[in-house]
Amino acid sequence: MSRNAYIVGTGHNVPDGVLTNADLEKIVDTTDEWIVKMTGIKERRKTDDSTATSDLVTVAVKNAIEMAGWEPEDVQGIIVGTVTPDYYFPSTAAIVADKLGMKNIPAYDFEAGCTAFIYGLVQAKAFIESGMMDRMIIVGADCLTKITNWTDRSSCILFGDGAGAVAVSSEGPGGRLGGWHWGSDGSMGKHLFQPAGGSKKPASHETVDNMEHTIHMNGARIFKYAVRTMHDSCMEALKMDGTEKKDVDLLVSHQANLRIIDATARALELKPEQVYINIQKYGNTSAATIPMALDEAVRDNTIKETSTVVLAAFGAGLTWGGMILHW
Ligand code: COA
Repeated sequence: MSRNAYIVGTGHNVPDGVLTNADLEKIVDTTDEWIVKMTGIKERRKTDDSTATSDLVTVAVKNAIEMAGWEPEDVQGIIVGTVTPDYYFPSTAAIVADKLGMKNIPAYDFEAGCTAFIYGLVQAKAFIESGMMDRMIIVGADCLTKITNWTDRSSCILFGDGAGAVAVSSEGPGGRLGGWHWGSDGSMGKHLFQPAGGSKKPASHETVDNMEHTIHMNGARIFKYAVRTMHDSCMEALKMDGTEKKDVDLLVSHQANLRIIDATARALELKPEQVYINIQKYGNTSAATIPMALDEAVRDNTIKETSTVVLAAFGAGLTWGGMILHW
Protein backbone atom coordinates (compact mmCIF):
# COMPACT_ATOMS: atom_id res chain seq x y z
CA MET A 1 0.00 0.00 0.00
CA SER A 2 1.40 3.41 -0.88
CA ARG A 3 2.22 5.71 1.99
CA ASN A 4 1.36 9.39 2.31
CA ALA A 5 2.80 12.25 4.38
CA TYR A 6 0.48 14.61 6.27
CA ILE A 7 0.98 17.89 8.13
CA VAL A 8 -0.68 17.14 11.47
CA GLY A 9 0.62 20.08 13.52
CA THR A 10 1.74 23.65 12.88
CA GLY A 11 3.38 26.26 15.08
CA HIS A 12 5.17 29.57 14.88
CA ASN A 13 6.92 32.10 17.03
CA VAL A 14 8.10 35.70 16.61
CA PRO A 15 10.06 37.93 18.97
CA ASP A 16 8.17 40.61 20.93
CA GLY A 17 10.17 43.54 19.56
CA VAL A 18 8.25 45.48 16.89
CA LEU A 19 10.06 47.69 14.36
CA THR A 20 7.61 49.92 12.52
CA ASN A 21 8.08 51.87 9.30
CA ALA A 22 8.05 55.01 11.46
CA ASP A 23 11.03 53.56 13.39
CA LEU A 24 12.86 52.98 10.09
CA GLU A 25 12.19 56.58 9.01
CA LYS A 26 14.48 57.56 11.89
CA ILE A 27 17.29 55.24 10.72
CA VAL A 28 17.37 55.64 6.91
CA ASP A 29 16.03 58.04 4.28
CA THR A 30 12.64 56.41 3.70
CA THR A 31 8.94 56.90 4.38
CA ASP A 32 6.10 54.74 5.62
CA GLU A 33 4.26 55.63 2.41
CA TRP A 34 7.10 54.35 0.16
CA ILE A 35 7.54 51.11 2.10
CA VAL A 36 3.81 50.29 2.13
CA LYS A 37 3.36 51.16 -1.55
CA MET A 38 6.45 49.26 -2.74
CA THR A 39 6.32 46.22 -0.42
CA GLY A 40 3.08 46.05 1.61
CA ILE A 41 5.09 45.92 4.85
CA LYS A 42 3.97 48.02 7.84
CA GLU A 43 6.05 46.51 10.61
CA ARG A 44 8.35 43.59 11.34
CA ARG A 45 9.65 41.77 14.43
CA LYS A 46 13.23 42.06 15.65
CA THR A 47 15.05 39.85 18.14
CA ASP A 48 17.06 41.41 20.95
CA ASP A 49 20.77 40.72 21.36
CA SER A 50 20.21 37.74 23.66
CA THR A 51 17.76 35.87 21.39
CA ALA A 52 18.94 33.47 18.70
CA THR A 53 17.19 31.51 15.96
CA SER A 54 17.03 28.37 18.14
CA ASP A 55 15.05 30.28 20.79
CA LEU A 56 12.32 31.11 18.27
CA VAL A 57 12.41 27.61 16.77
CA THR A 58 12.03 25.89 20.15
CA VAL A 59 8.69 27.60 20.80
CA ALA A 60 7.46 27.06 17.22
CA VAL A 61 8.24 23.33 17.40
CA LYS A 62 6.61 23.03 20.84
CA ASN A 63 3.42 24.55 19.38
CA ALA A 64 3.49 22.21 16.36
CA ILE A 65 3.96 19.01 18.37
CA GLU A 66 1.28 20.14 20.83
CA MET A 67 -1.22 20.51 17.96
CA ALA A 68 -0.13 17.09 16.65
CA GLY A 69 -0.71 15.56 20.08
CA TRP A 70 2.88 14.24 20.13
CA GLU A 71 5.38 13.96 22.94
CA PRO A 72 9.00 14.97 22.19
CA GLU A 73 9.99 11.28 22.17
CA ASP A 74 7.57 10.61 19.29
CA VAL A 75 9.69 12.73 16.92
CA GLN A 76 12.07 10.65 14.75
CA GLY A 77 13.92 13.50 13.06
CA ILE A 78 14.11 17.31 12.93
CA ILE A 79 15.47 19.47 10.13
CA VAL A 80 15.82 23.25 10.19
CA GLY A 81 16.01 25.38 7.05
CA THR A 82 17.84 28.61 7.88
CA VAL A 83 20.52 31.03 6.67
CA THR A 84 20.91 32.44 10.17
CA PRO A 85 21.72 29.42 12.36
CA ASP A 86 22.91 30.05 15.93
CA TYR A 87 26.37 28.85 14.83
CA TYR A 88 27.92 27.30 11.72
CA PHE A 89 28.14 24.26 13.95
CA PRO A 90 26.60 22.64 15.91
CA SER A 91 23.34 22.79 13.97
CA THR A 92 20.35 24.75 15.22
CA ALA A 93 18.32 21.54 14.78
CA ALA A 94 20.55 19.68 17.26
CA ILE A 95 20.31 22.56 19.76
CA VAL A 96 16.51 22.56 19.53
CA ALA A 97 16.26 18.77 19.77
CA ASP A 98 18.32 18.91 22.96
CA LYS A 99 16.24 21.75 24.43
CA LEU A 100 13.02 19.82 23.79
CA GLY A 101 14.28 16.47 25.04
CA MET A 102 14.33 14.75 21.62
CA LYS A 103 17.10 12.26 22.29
CA ASN A 104 19.41 10.55 19.77
CA ILE A 105 17.42 11.48 16.68
CA PRO A 106 18.83 12.78 13.37
CA ALA A 107 18.91 16.59 13.51
CA TYR A 108 20.45 18.84 10.88
CA ASP A 109 20.23 22.26 9.25
CA PHE A 110 20.00 22.88 5.54
CA GLU A 111 20.02 26.04 3.47
CA ALA A 112 17.97 27.12 0.47
CA GLY A 113 17.36 30.78 1.35
CA CYS A 114 13.73 31.73 1.57
CA THR A 115 12.76 28.54 -0.30
CA ALA A 116 14.05 26.33 2.53
CA PHE A 117 10.67 25.40 3.98
CA ILE A 118 9.49 23.99 0.63
CA TYR A 119 12.79 22.11 0.25
CA GLY A 120 12.16 20.77 3.78
CA LEU A 121 8.69 19.55 2.90
CA VAL A 122 10.04 17.75 -0.17
CA GLN A 123 12.57 16.00 2.10
CA ALA A 124 9.82 15.10 4.59
CA LYS A 125 7.71 13.66 1.80
CA ALA A 126 10.65 11.52 0.64
CA PHE A 127 11.52 10.29 4.14
CA ILE A 128 7.94 9.48 5.07
CA GLU A 129 6.60 8.06 1.83
CA SER A 130 9.67 5.82 1.51
CA GLY A 131 9.04 4.41 4.99
CA MET A 132 12.28 5.75 6.49
CA MET A 133 10.37 7.79 9.06
CA ASP A 134 6.85 8.08 10.47
CA ARG A 135 7.00 11.38 12.36
CA MET A 136 9.31 14.31 11.75
CA ILE A 137 9.57 18.06 12.26
CA ILE A 138 10.30 20.51 9.46
CA VAL A 139 11.27 24.06 10.39
CA GLY A 140 11.81 27.29 8.47
CA ALA A 141 13.38 29.97 10.66
CA ASP A 142 15.52 33.06 10.34
CA CYS A 143 16.71 36.10 12.22
CA LEU A 144 17.56 38.23 9.19
CA THR A 145 17.76 41.39 11.30
CA LYS A 146 21.03 39.97 12.67
CA ILE A 147 22.61 40.23 9.19
CA THR A 148 20.81 43.34 7.92
CA ASN A 149 22.72 46.42 6.80
CA TRP A 150 20.83 49.17 8.64
CA THR A 151 22.35 51.82 6.37
CA ASP A 152 20.99 50.26 3.14
CA ARG A 153 17.47 51.59 2.69
CA SER A 154 16.71 49.34 -0.27
CA SER A 155 17.07 46.17 1.81
CA CYS A 156 16.76 46.97 5.54
CA ILE A 157 13.07 47.84 5.20
CA LEU A 158 12.23 44.32 4.03
CA PHE A 159 13.40 41.91 6.71
CA GLY A 160 12.16 40.56 10.03
CA ASP A 161 12.67 37.60 12.39
CA GLY A 162 10.49 34.54 12.97
CA ALA A 163 10.18 30.77 13.02
CA GLY A 164 7.59 28.31 11.76
CA ALA A 165 7.39 24.54 12.17
CA VAL A 166 5.25 21.65 11.03
CA ALA A 167 4.85 18.11 12.36
CA VAL A 168 4.67 15.68 9.44
CA SER A 169 3.29 12.18 9.92
CA SER A 170 2.64 9.02 7.92
CA GLU A 171 -0.83 9.05 9.46
CA GLY A 172 -3.57 11.61 8.75
CA PRO A 173 -5.87 13.35 8.95
CA GLY A 174 -4.05 16.54 8.06
CA GLY A 175 -2.65 18.40 5.08
CA ARG A 176 -1.43 15.70 2.66
CA LEU A 177 1.79 16.63 0.85
CA GLY A 178 1.01 16.39 -2.87
CA GLY A 179 2.69 17.51 -6.09
CA TRP A 180 5.88 19.51 -5.78
CA HIS A 181 8.58 21.31 -7.69
CA TRP A 182 12.01 22.61 -6.72
CA GLY A 183 14.94 24.15 -8.54
CA SER A 184 17.91 26.52 -8.46
CA ASP A 185 20.11 28.75 -10.61
CA GLY A 186 23.51 29.43 -9.03
CA SER A 187 24.46 31.89 -11.76
CA MET A 188 21.99 34.31 -10.12
CA GLY A 189 23.45 33.81 -6.63
CA LYS A 190 25.40 37.07 -6.72
CA HIS A 191 22.19 39.09 -6.67
CA LEU A 192 21.32 38.03 -3.10
CA PHE A 193 24.18 37.03 -0.84
CA GLN A 194 26.30 37.55 2.24
CA PRO A 195 29.80 38.16 0.86
CA ALA A 196 31.92 37.34 3.91
CA GLY A 197 32.08 34.91 6.79
CA GLY A 198 32.28 31.70 4.75
CA SER A 199 35.32 29.83 3.42
CA LYS A 200 35.52 32.13 0.38
CA LYS A 201 36.10 35.20 2.53
CA PRO A 202 36.59 34.35 6.20
CA ALA A 203 35.76 36.99 8.79
CA SER A 204 38.44 39.65 9.23
CA HIS A 205 38.60 43.21 10.51
CA GLU A 206 38.41 44.32 6.89
CA THR A 207 35.25 42.32 6.10
CA VAL A 208 33.58 43.67 9.21
CA ASP A 209 34.58 47.26 8.37
CA ASN A 210 33.17 46.78 4.85
CA MET A 211 29.81 45.45 6.16
CA GLU A 212 30.37 42.24 4.20
CA HIS A 213 28.57 40.12 6.80
CA THR A 214 25.26 41.69 5.88
CA ILE A 215 22.74 40.99 3.12
CA HIS A 216 23.75 42.32 -0.31
CA MET A 217 20.80 42.42 -2.68
CA ASN A 218 19.94 43.60 -6.18
CA GLY A 219 16.23 44.07 -5.52
CA ALA A 220 15.12 44.77 -9.08
CA ARG A 221 16.83 41.64 -10.53
CA ILE A 222 15.40 39.46 -7.76
CA PHE A 223 11.93 40.90 -8.24
CA LYS A 224 11.62 39.89 -11.90
CA TYR A 225 13.08 36.46 -11.28
CA ALA A 226 10.78 35.90 -8.30
CA VAL A 227 7.61 36.64 -10.25
CA ARG A 228 8.57 34.16 -12.98
CA THR A 229 9.87 31.33 -10.76
CA MET A 230 6.97 31.52 -8.28
CA HIS A 231 4.52 31.19 -11.15
CA ASP A 232 6.46 28.36 -12.81
CA SER A 233 6.80 26.47 -9.49
CA CYS A 234 3.06 26.65 -8.86
CA MET A 235 2.26 25.43 -12.35
CA GLU A 236 4.73 22.53 -12.19
CA ALA A 237 3.50 21.45 -8.75
CA LEU A 238 -0.13 21.62 -9.90
CA LYS A 239 0.72 19.58 -12.99
CA MET A 240 2.44 16.85 -10.94
CA ASP A 241 -0.52 16.86 -8.56
CA GLY A 242 -3.08 16.60 -11.37
CA THR A 243 -4.90 19.65 -9.97
CA GLU A 244 -6.38 22.48 -12.03
CA LYS A 245 -5.97 26.16 -11.13
CA LYS A 246 -9.73 26.42 -10.59
CA ASP A 247 -9.55 23.79 -7.82
CA VAL A 248 -7.10 25.78 -5.69
CA ASP A 249 -8.65 27.21 -2.49
CA LEU A 250 -5.71 29.12 -1.03
CA LEU A 251 -2.25 30.41 -1.95
CA VAL A 252 0.23 30.57 0.92
CA SER A 253 3.34 31.99 -0.70
CA HIS A 254 6.65 33.36 0.48
CA GLN A 255 5.98 36.85 1.90
CA ALA A 256 8.75 38.91 0.32
CA ASN A 257 6.81 41.70 -1.36
CA LEU A 258 3.04 42.18 -1.70
CA ARG A 259 3.46 43.00 -5.39
CA ILE A 260 5.19 39.63 -5.99
CA ILE A 261 2.42 37.80 -4.11
CA ASP A 262 -0.23 39.67 -6.13
CA ALA A 263 1.47 38.77 -9.42
CA THR A 264 1.51 35.07 -8.44
CA ALA A 265 -2.14 35.22 -7.37
CA ARG A 266 -3.10 36.85 -10.68
CA ALA A 267 -1.29 34.12 -12.61
CA LEU A 268 -3.27 31.51 -10.67
CA GLU A 269 -6.48 33.49 -11.32
CA LEU A 270 -7.24 33.65 -7.58
CA LYS A 271 -9.56 36.09 -5.83
CA PRO A 272 -8.06 38.28 -3.06
CA GLU A 273 -9.73 36.17 -0.33
CA GLN A 274 -7.89 33.10 -1.68
CA VAL A 275 -4.47 34.55 -0.89
CA TYR A 276 -3.04 34.45 2.63
CA ILE A 277 -1.14 37.61 3.43
CA ASN A 278 0.59 38.55 6.67
CA ILE A 279 3.57 40.46 5.23
CA GLN A 280 2.18 43.71 6.70
CA LYS A 281 2.89 42.40 10.24
CA TYR A 282 6.15 40.51 9.81
CA GLY A 283 7.95 41.61 6.63
CA ASN A 284 10.16 39.01 4.97
CA THR A 285 11.21 36.45 7.59
CA SER A 286 12.98 34.35 4.92
CA ALA A 287 12.54 30.58 5.49
CA ALA A 288 9.88 31.28 8.13
CA THR A 289 7.29 33.12 6.06
CA ILE A 290 5.42 30.10 4.70
CA PRO A 291 5.23 27.97 7.88
CA MET A 292 4.28 31.09 9.88
CA ALA A 293 1.47 31.95 7.45
CA LEU A 294 0.41 28.31 7.28
CA ASP A 295 0.13 28.13 11.06
CA GLU A 296 -1.95 31.31 11.17
CA ALA A 297 -4.20 30.03 8.37
CA VAL A 298 -4.74 26.71 10.16
CA ARG A 299 -5.45 28.34 13.52
CA ASP A 300 -7.84 31.01 12.17
CA ASN A 301 -9.70 28.36 10.11
CA THR A 302 -8.80 29.91 6.74
CA ILE A 303 -7.60 26.39 5.96
CA LYS A 304 -10.56 24.03 6.32
CA GLU A 305 -10.85 20.26 6.27
CA THR A 306 -11.21 20.12 2.48
CA SER A 307 -8.85 22.91 1.43
CA THR A 308 -6.43 22.56 -1.47
CA VAL A 309 -3.50 24.84 -0.71
CA VAL A 310 -0.65 25.96 -2.99
CA LEU A 311 2.69 26.86 -1.42
CA ALA A 312 5.26 28.79 -3.47
CA ALA A 313 8.63 30.34 -2.69
CA PHE A 314 11.83 31.78 -4.13
CA GLY A 315 15.01 32.83 -2.44
CA ALA A 316 18.79 33.04 -2.28
CA GLY A 317 20.63 30.57 -4.45
CA LEU A 318 18.64 31.54 -6.37
CA THR A 319 16.20 28.81 -5.47
CA TRP A 320 12.49 28.26 -5.99
CA GLY A 321 9.86 25.69 -5.14
CA GLY A 322 6.19 24.86 -4.85
CA MET A 323 4.02 22.25 -3.19
CA ILE A 324 0.33 21.35 -3.15
CA LEU A 325 -1.31 20.42 0.17
CA HIS A 326 -4.68 18.67 0.43
CA TRP A 327 -6.43 19.04 3.78
N1 COA B 1 12.68 54.40 0.62
C1 COA B 1 12.58 55.32 -0.34
N2 COA B 1 13.14 55.17 -1.55
C2 COA B 1 13.81 54.02 -1.79
C3 COA B 1 13.95 53.03 -0.82
C4 COA B 1 13.37 53.25 0.43
N3 COA B 1 13.42 52.35 1.44
N4 COA B 1 14.67 52.01 -1.32
C5 COA B 1 14.99 52.34 -2.58
N5 COA B 1 14.46 53.57 -2.87
C6 COA B 1 14.56 54.32 -4.10
C7 COA B 1 15.80 54.00 -4.90
O1 COA B 1 16.90 54.70 -4.44
C8 COA B 1 15.36 54.42 -6.28
O2 COA B 1 15.50 55.80 -6.39
P1 COA B 1 16.03 56.48 -7.75
O3 COA B 1 15.00 56.11 -8.79
O4 COA B 1 16.06 57.93 -7.40
O5 COA B 1 17.36 55.86 -8.02
C9 COA B 1 13.89 54.07 -6.32
O6 COA B 1 13.48 53.97 -4.96
C10 COA B 1 13.60 52.79 -7.04
O7 COA B 1 14.49 51.80 -6.55
P2 COA B 1 14.46 50.31 -7.06
O8 COA B 1 15.45 49.52 -6.26
O9 COA B 1 14.59 50.28 -8.55
O10 COA B 1 12.96 49.95 -6.66
P3 COA B 1 12.16 48.66 -6.92
O11 COA B 1 10.95 48.97 -7.69
O12 COA B 1 13.01 47.54 -7.44
O13 COA B 1 11.70 48.27 -5.42
C11 COA B 1 12.28 46.68 -3.73
C12 COA B 1 12.68 47.97 -4.45
C13 COA B 1 13.42 46.28 -2.81
C14 COA B 1 11.03 46.95 -2.93
C15 COA B 1 12.01 45.57 -4.80
O14 COA B 1 13.06 45.56 -5.72
C16 COA B 1 11.87 44.21 -4.21
O15 COA B 1 11.06 43.96 -3.35
N6 COA B 1 12.65 43.24 -4.75
C17 COA B 1 12.63 41.88 -4.29
C18 COA B 1 13.53 41.75 -3.11
C19 COA B 1 13.32 40.47 -2.36
O16 COA B 1 12.25 39.93 -2.36
N7 COA B 1 14.37 40.01 -1.69
C20 COA B 1 14.32 38.85 -0.88
C21 COA B 1 14.24 37.62 -1.71
S1 COA B 1 13.83 36.23 -0.76
